[in-house]
Amino acid sequence: MKGVFAGAFVLLSVLSLEARGSEDVISKGYSVFESKCASCHPVSVPPEKLKKIREAVEKGGKPPIKAPPMEEISARVKKFYPDEESFVRFVSDYITNPSQDKGVCMPMAYKVFGVMPPVGRGMSEEEKEAVARWLYRNFHYTWEEFIEKHPHH
Ligand code: HEC
Repeated sequence: MKGVFAGAFVLLSVLSLEARGSEDVISKGYSVFESKCASCHPVSVPPEKLKKIREAVEKGGKPPIKAPPMEEISARVKKFYPDEESFVRFVSDYITNPSQDKGVCMPMAYKVFGVMPPVGRGMSEEEKEAVARWLYRNFHYTWEEFIEKHPHH
């Protein structure tokens, strides 16, 4: 009997998660990304290219991109906000009131790119939530896996 209840509970929580991360929300999140974020953030940059960018920047050059790739940001933010709801809250707040104090990027990122502008101020709560869920769900590396694939030094 206990097992049956446990099974039902698992099923229920999966369904409610599916509702929050439904295809609709994720594809809306992607279109928000394209219109509000992609002018600065690439989706991802292949390891070889990222390595070259890093080497050039370490020698004092300007990076050819305006902000870290979303794949890297997703992995980095998950290290500090591993569950989806706290991740979504963090991202919605950060893009509305960004500051290095609350940010979780590597110190180098602020040095190279500066703090991002408060682009979330011109967005609805629904748009912010959708783009944050897309950022959480579309990428699957942990920070450790990301660093292994894209060594920083
Ligand atoms: C004008 C360029 C620009 C735009 C547009 C932009 N960003 Fe950023 N973003 C940056 C830069 C630069 C950083 C790295 C410095 C920092 O974290 O503030 C960054 C960092 C971030 C971070 C990491 C925060 C941390 O912990 O430091 C998140 C999350 C993020 N951006 C999400 C978004 C989302 C979502 C959008 C679109 C709604 C967006 N950004 C649009 C420039 C931009």
